[in-house]
Amino acid sequence: MKPTNARWAIFISGLGSNAAELLDARAEYDIALVVSSRHQAPGLARARRQGIETLVLTQPIDWSLLFLNLKQRKITHLFLAGFLKIVPASFLENWQGVIVNIHPSLLPSYPGLASLQRAYQEGAPVGVTTHHVIAEVDRGHHIFQTSVGSLSEQQSLSFEEVEWRAHLLEHTLVKKTMEAVS
Ligand code: GRF
Repeated sequence: MKPTNARWAIFISGLGSNAAELLDARAEYDIALVVSSRHQAPGLARARRQGIETLVLTQPIDWSLLFLNLKQRKITHLFLAGFLKIVPASFLENWQGVIVNIHPSLLPSYPGLASLQRAYQEGAPVGVTTHHVIAEVDRGHHIFQTSVGSLSEQQSLSFEEVEWRAHLLEHTLVKKTMEAVS
């Protein structure tokens, strides 16, 4: 691990399996907060069990208040790990180069929702990308990108198997990304 002053907040909306992977590695990284856009996100309870502070965003999200909240906690880096809200450009301006996202496709192919399912159904290669976040959704500079395997291998697998492989890949990529961007 390289010496770093990065202090991370992880943003989730659902299961939070990527956040959980990162939290498991928090001897190596300073992760101070898990932020969720949903009260019911299973990842929230999981994060609390892992002993991490959590913050649930009220809707509509008050992005200025969130900014102040993060600054108060001395957060320097943000990881969107399954956060299903569009982050406005006005908020992003404050975090240029220190806000990253994980997306389940080989970007620039299949941005947006249900990416993995769409790629698989259309017989296109499935993979995972981590990237810097900019105002255009899923369009920022790539950090890491990996496919789940060759196309012929992928075609021999069920959707559930491909999805499972993609999740495992994500869990590796999020840690590599945190290390690279810290
Ligand atoms: C992942 O597939 C991630 O790529 C996407 O949302 C999903 C979140 O999964 N952005 P989890 O909540 O970390 O299990």
